[in-house]
Amino acid sequence: MRYSFLAAGALSGVLAFACLGQAPVKKGNPSVKMQPYGKMPDGSEIDLYTLTNVAGMQAGIINYGGAVVTLAAPDKSGKFADVVLGMDTLAGYMQEPNYFGALIGRYGNRIGHATFKLEGKTYTLPKNNGENTLHGGNAGFDKRVWKAREMSTANGPAVELTYVSKDGEEGFPGTLTAKVVYTLTDANELKIEYTATTDKPTVLNLTNHSYFNLAGAGVGDNLQHQVMINANQFTPVDEGLIPTGELKAVKGTPFDFTKLTAIGARINQDDQQLKFGKGYDHNWVLNKRMGAMGKAAEVYEPKSGRVLEVFTTEPGLQFYTGNFLDGSVTGKGGIAYPMRAAFCMETQHYPDSPNQPKFPSTELKSGQTYHTVTTYKFSAR
Ligand code: GLA
Repeated sequence: MRYSFLAAGALSGVLAFACLGQAPVKKGNPSVKMQPYGKMPDGSEIDLYTLTNVAGMQAGIINYGGAVVTLAAPDKSGKFADVVLGMDTLAGYMQEPNYFGALIGRYGNRIGHATFKLEGKTYTLPKNNGENTLHGGNAGFDKRVWKAREMSTANGPAVELTYVSKDGEEGFPGTLTAKVVYTLTDANELKIEYTATTDKPTVLNLTNHSYFNLAGAGVGDNLQHQVMINANQFTPVDEGLIPTGELKAVKGTPFDFTKLTAIGARINQDDQQLKFGKGYDHNWVLNKRMGAMGKAAEVYEPKSGRVLEVFTTEPGLQFYTGNFLDGSVTGKGGIAYPMRAAFCMETQHYPDSPNQPKFPSTELKSGQTYHTVTTYKFSAR
């Protein structure tokens, strides 16, 4: 039976509430449950895929924007809470401006002056962030309907999402076929595997824009969360948040997260980079071999004891502290999200790479396969 739009919305609200509530999720067999979530204005169906692993951890993913809408993780006493911000309805996701939980493409973060050159040709993109292009333009991958397929893998329940982006969509060249597999492993990891191919040279930088609050979505701000980022350098930006091209040492700056440090410890320091970002909204240059899977970050929330570790094959990490949240968006369960209600750990190539010859290349040629993996691992101590 197909639920109506509103019923599906209400249902997801109940799910979100259940995740925030007391009862630990029943442990048992891993499963994928598919249920209707809502309808697009053209009538196409959006579904919610709920992945449950052996430990009872759950991830809810919709095929609108491939968004992670709920993620129930245990605290140190085994109590589950939903640790990602989000909305209660499809309409909510279609309207909110923050990219909650969504897949980002074709280009995660900014491309300066909304233009780039590739193989001698200049491409012009939509300006949706001042003079620049942010997160793939006006209708990036976060606003697209993906084709979904449930999968059960040796590592845990999974859902595969596919989207074919037409040649010229949002100004980017090449017909691009993107596939994203979300697996909720039995080791309490949300693993995201991205692959893509193109029929013409293009640029590509895919990521996920989940907003985490390890105390629970809607429970206070992020300032007490302690963060470690495995990076000795970051990429400073100009007022428009476009990298200047410099790789700057974090040592002696508020950007040094080489040891676990509370987000709130230095966020209000008198620092030009923090002013430009209204807080942290920067790309860290990860200490790892290009393309190899390695640890990017760790976050610890002292009250709940929840720990998030981020592993990735990507060379960069955009650590964003929810500086543009302002209480105007009312999220799951009717809770408004104020500034710094959560943080994002967007694994990626560096912003504006198509215009920065010294940054690792984001070009994808026809015949090549784009392949990156990011894992968000949850535990408690
Ligand atoms: C990224 C950007 C931020 C902001 C958010 C979405 O993290 O770097 O500046 O645009 O996405 O609100």
